[in-house]
Amino acid sequence: PQELTGLVLEHLREIPDFPEPGVLFRDITPLLADGPAFSRLVEGLADHYRGRVDAVAGLESRGFILAAPLAVALGTGMLTVRKGGKLPGPVIGADYALEYGTARMELRPESVEPGSRVLVIDDVLATGGTAAASISLLEQAGARVDDVCMLLELAALGGRAQLAGRRLASVVVF
Ligand code: PRP
Ligand code: MG
Repeated sequence: PQELTGLVLEHLREIPDFPEPGVLFRDITPLLADGPAFSRLVEGLADHYRGRVDAVAGLESRGFILAAPLAVALGTGMLTVRKGGKLPGPVIGADYALEYGTARMELRPESVEPGSRVLVIDDVLATGGTAAASISLLEQAGARVDDVCMLLELAALGGRAQLAGRRLASVVVF
């Protein structure tokens, strides 16, 4: 969805040294707060994926902001891949490494229709750990994950390599 790149760039806010010194935080809240811009983003993504996916999976928590309106625009269901300990059972989980420590994503496998084409969407692809763990859960539950959509890709962190074999569409690549 390269036609959406300018739209997203125009509505980003960059905050140096947040959440820690040396990190440049890219904030998407100005985009979300602008009704016409948010609507154009969702409609543009829907035009790109219409007819190609059966469900949209959002990655907690910022991915939910994008997945829910996109699923409604596409007329599909939305799946929630959640952080560890949030979903009542039965759930399946995948741990992944952070710079310090580990994190965990969980999925309720019955929410996945076996063989369905699931689009994974999130706001940022950094190291790819969150996305890779989430995809492994969706596939374990029987989904086909051929498409991944990221609003922002931080290329230097190498997340793309974690998504080998899938179509990754990043609206803005830094
Ligand atoms: C951020 C971002 C992505 C993830 C990307 O989420 O929203 O989900 O990190 O990082 P990775 O590619 O290195 O895994 P975060 O865990 O900060 O939580 P949030 O979405 O709840 O704000
Ligand atoms: Mg997140």
